[in-house]
Parts: sequence; structure tokens; C-alpha cells
Amino acid sequence: MVKRVIVITGTPCVGKTTIARLLAHKINASYINLTELAVKEGIILGVDEKRGSMIVDEEKMKKRIKEIVESATEENIVVDGHYAQHVVPDEITMHVLVLRRDPEELQKLMIKAGYSGNKLWENLAAEILDVCLVEALHAYSKDKICELNVTSRSPEDVVNEILEVIKGSRKCSIGIVDWLGKLEMEGKLEEYLKI
Ligand SMILES: Nc1ncnc2c1ncn2[C@@H]1O[C@H](COP(=O)(O)OP(=O)(O)O)[C@@H](O)[C@H]1O
Ligand SMILES: [Mg+2]
Repeated sequence: MVKRVIVITGTPCVGKTTIARLLAHKINASYINLTELAVKEGIILGVDEKRGSMIVDEEKMKKRIKEIVESATEENIVVDGHYAQHVVPDEITMHVLVLRRDPEELQKLMIKAGYSGNKLWENLAAEILDVCLVEALHAYSKDKICELNVTSRSPEDVVNEILEVIKGSRKCSIGIVDWLGKLEMEGKLEEYLKI
């Protein structure tokens, strides 16, 4: 059976898990959450004390992802994680959805999720500077990558758009947001890029 891997990436709190779970449910797909997998199977090299985050063993994770995809009974596999582009190889990937959210809205969701201080500003800067998109462009052929602006949208609405992309009835595009330009125009760039 040919497997279809769909990668959902984006800055923490952008809405990946909400979207990926709903999508997996709608298309009867296996769902892999990279953070949960790393913790459950101990695929970690250590802890980044400064950031308060895990350092994932990317080589081991790559192998494990391939194994899981090969042995999956479902045709579709949704992989959810902000570093998916480092561990899900191009050759097994069909679609890469990079979720984007307006930094001001993202900041509110991050605060709600308990982010503060450096970790908050670092992750907001990553969103403003298109880090996940740039990484995805390094890892995958461009025609697989689809950037979706999820700002102020319901998960259902976003998932419906992803379903159209999978069906081939909607063309993907990249370069659809310009948070840097938007914040600069509003005179808020310095407030946001203060790391
Ligand atoms: N479309 C949405 N609209 C409003 N809030 C959302 C939306 N999607 C997710 N959220 C909320 O944002 C927070 C982060 O979502 P989550 O899916 O966990 O993001 P991620 O997996 O990217 O870190 C959660 O509190 C979630 O309920
Ligand atoms: Mg998540």
C-alpha cells in the first residue's frame, strides 16, 4: 500500500495539534505527535536547560518515523510537530502544511498556554521570521509545501481547506503572509523582536 504522509508544522501554539487531530479523524489517518512520541519512547538526547525544552534525537526519530509509516495500517498518516521538517524525509512526504498565525493572536494563545519570558519572545520571533517555512523549503520540494494563514479561523474551516489541497482541487502557495511588514507598518516591530 502506498502511504500518504501529511506533515503539519508551524510555530508552537499556532494550532497544529488541533488541526492535525481533526484532519486525521476526517480522513481516517494515523496520527503521530512528535512531542508525545519523543517522550513516550525516550527519543531524546537531553534537556536544553536554558530553553526548558527537550533535545530530540533527530537521527533516531527519523528511523522511528519511517518504521511507523511503513507498518501503519492506514493509507494516510498525519505527522504533527514544529520540527517535523527535520525528521520526516522528503521521499515519504506528500504534503507539508505550514500553519501561520498573526503574531498578536499567537502571543495571546502562547500566554494562555503558559509561555512567558524568553521562550515566548523566541517563539514569536520564529513566527515573524518565517522559520518553519524556511526550514520546510530546505527539506521538501517546493510543490509539496502549502502555507495556510489560520488567523481568526475555525479549525473546521482550516481542515476543509487542507482537504481540498489533498484532493488536488486547491493549489498551494507560499509567501502568503508578511508579519514583519505588518508589524513594521503598525510600529510594533521593536516590541515584538526584542530578543
Ligand atoms: N483555530 C483556532 N482558533 C482559536 N484557538 C485555537 C485554534 N486552534 C487552536 N487553538 C487554541 O490554541 C492553543 C494552541 O493550539 P494547539 O493545537 O495545541 O497548537 P500547537 O499544537 O501548534 O502547539 C490551544 O489552546 C487551542 O485550543
Ligand atoms: Mg501541539
